[in-house]
This record gives sequence, structure tokens and C-alpha cells, in this order.
Amino acid sequence: MTRKRVGVLVSGRGSNLQALLDACAAPDFPAEIVLVVSNIPGVQGLTRAYKAGVPTATVNHRDYPSREAFEAALDATLRAAGVDIVCLAGFMRVLTAGFVEAWAGRLINVHPSLLPAFKGLHTHERALAAGVRFHGCSVHFVKADVDAGPVIVQGVVPVRPDDSAEALATRVLAVEHKIYPHALRLVAEGRARALDDRVELAHVPSRDGVLINPPLE
Ligand code: GRF
Repeated sequence: MTRKRVGVLVSGRGSNLQALLDACAAPDFPAEIVLVVSNIPGVQGLTRAYKAGVPTATVNHRDYPSREAFEAALDATLRAAGVDIVCLAGFMRVLTAGFVEAWAGRLINVHPSLLPAFKGLHTHERALAAGVRFHGCSVHFVKADVDAGPVIVQGVVPVRPDDSAEALATRVLAVEHKIYPHALRLVAEGRARALDDRVELAHVPSRDGVLINPPLE
């Protein structure tokens, strides 16, 4: 098995990066993280990579005159490391169509909502305000629009009657850490492929069962 070479882009805490590092530590995992890049110097994500023995780079967007120049540097850094797949993990820069198209089908992101609901920021607050009974997270192929793109894997979290945004965020984050390595595995093995606006899955079991919240009595 040739493992796919993964570059992870971070801007902060890096807990999803940690989940990916942990998954890739298993010798039978189909991908390895060869580079972690941050656009912000000194963030916790870089420390996590260093501790895992993974090379790091900082490409500070403030050092570049334009978004395109920043992305050209990012692209060159990833290519120099021989990256096959790029994972965004709390990467807080919007990417232009040029970058996204250059990495089409090989660029994935984790977002804390059940897309296409609640794109953008403050997803947990907005889910509570909307009164939905289920919330969750998605891993998706990236398209040029923010938080748009075909969904690979989703994880669902029931909303509790007494929930706070913080409590909900904590429960959703724990699910992000499960679904991101799962989605990366599917992409690395070629079992999840972007096909226009949806993802074609091959050789995955189908999921049955119904979730009802509040539960039937
Ligand atoms: C996560 O909630 C992720 O879904 C969102 O940004 C957050 C990053 O957290 N895109 P971390 O840096 O992975 O801990």
C-alpha cells in the first residue's frame, strides 16, 4: 500500500489536526501527514505537529500583498512536500477559486454543522436559535464558496432541551474528531470521490436506522 501524502492547514488549536495525526500513526492507515502549515505563527497546531515529529511551515498571510500571492506561496509549499491531499483543519482563511480548482477533489474541510445548514461562523449558537433537534458536523470536498462542496461524511448530535452553545460545541467537536479521519480514509482509498455536487461512495456499508429527538416514549 502506498500511503497518500497529506498536508494539513491550520490556524489555531489544532484538535482536528491531532485526530488526523493520531489516525495516521496507525501503520495500516492509508495516509500519512507529511506537512502541517499554519498561516499564523506559534499556534498550538504547530506544536502538535512538532511533537508528532511532522515537519511544519508557517506561511503568514500578512507577509503577502494579496490573497493570490499568499496562496501561491501556500501552493508551492504543499507541492514541494509532495502533498497529494490537503486537509483544512480550523484554517481561517477563505481560499480563492484558483487555489480550490488547483486542488479540486483533493482538498477537504471539516465544518461544525450538518451542511448545507449553518455555513459560516457561530454554528452552534445558530442551531440553538433555530430550534433544530439535531445538529452535527460535516467533512466535505471544498468548493470556492465558503463551506460549500459535496459532503463526504456527517455525524449527528441530538440537541438537548437545556443545551448551551458551549456544551453543544464540545459534543460536536468530539464527533468531528471521529469523522475527519474516517473521511480522510475514504478519500485516500479512493472510496469517496467528488462527482459534481455530490460524493460517490464505493465499497462502504449502508447505514440504516431512524433517529428521533425527543425520543418516542
Ligand atoms: C472546528 O470546530 C472546525 O470544525 C472548524 O474550526 C474548528 C477548529 O478546531 N472549521 P481545531 O483547531 O481543529 O481544534
